[in-house]
Amino acid sequence: MELSQKRLQQALAPRAIRYYESVASTNDLAKAWLIEGASTGSVVIADEQRKGRGRKGRIWYTPSNVALAVSLILHPKLEYVHQISMLGGIVVAELAAYLHIPDVGIKWANDVQLAGKKVSGILPEAVWDDNQLRGVVLGMGVNVRNDFRGTDVEHTATTLESATNESLNRIELLNYLLSRVDVWSAQIGSKALFEAWKGRLTTLGQRVEIEGIVGEAVDVMTNGALLVKQDDGTMQHLFAGDVSLTGVAKDTDGNPTGLGD
Ligand code: BTN
Repeated sequence: MELSQKRLQQALAPRAIRYYESVASTNDLAKAWLIEGASTGSVVIADEQRKGRGRKGRIWYTPSNVALAVSLILHPKLEYVHQISMLGGIVVAELAAYLHIPDVGIKWANDVQLAGKKVSGILPEAVWDDNQLRGVVLGMGVNVRNDFRGTDVEHTATTLESATNESLNRIELLNYLLSRVDVWSAQIGSKALFEAWKGRLTTLGQRVEIEGIVGEAVDVMTNGALLVKQDDGTMQHLFAGDVSLTGVAKDTDGNPTGLGD
């Protein structure tokens, strides 16, 4: 079924939503809406993103009709802002589990994977007013039926439909996803949220090589940092570079911008 403002509004009421057929990036529109005063739980949804943004400045492809591109507005306390990214990973993983997909996991920092292939990416971005946190936009991209053949992610990405062998209704997926967002956003700051995220991490116990650090991933800290034991026994804390670590960001006009990494 095609997405439309009317259908989404009916399915997701009473949530405030803004739907667009085609946008550059839903995160950008959500940040602007947050600055306008959008309330917690408001979401921007697009069928297509022309300049979807991924972590570390990468591009995130969202062609029309094949994926979910969602940006959710939240107003967490500053001390819990690192849990927003975790929340995104948890709710997407729960969506996959709800569809009875086996082998759902989160690769640190927050790639949701199905049998080791990436099905979703999470991009939280903070919006600051001087050094005051105005809010956070949680961008979530979920591959539903993308065709990755011939692309650079052909062997590393997957979709919900290829894992379920069923055709899926994106409005129903959004409905479930956002219902889980409501459950977990009421628990921001809790140990339960951290434990739910940690419980889905597949990285622990694995040998990793992340930004030049090689060793065994032994634990995660409550702030989301990964603890890696290097071969010489020394421990390294690796930070995902999510919103909790981002300084106050301003664009060249002095306006606040959110930054992911
Ligand atoms: C990653 O690199 O893993 C994160 C990808 C995040 C993509 C989502 S799609 C909705 C939102 N809008 C964007 O421009 N990016 C995020």
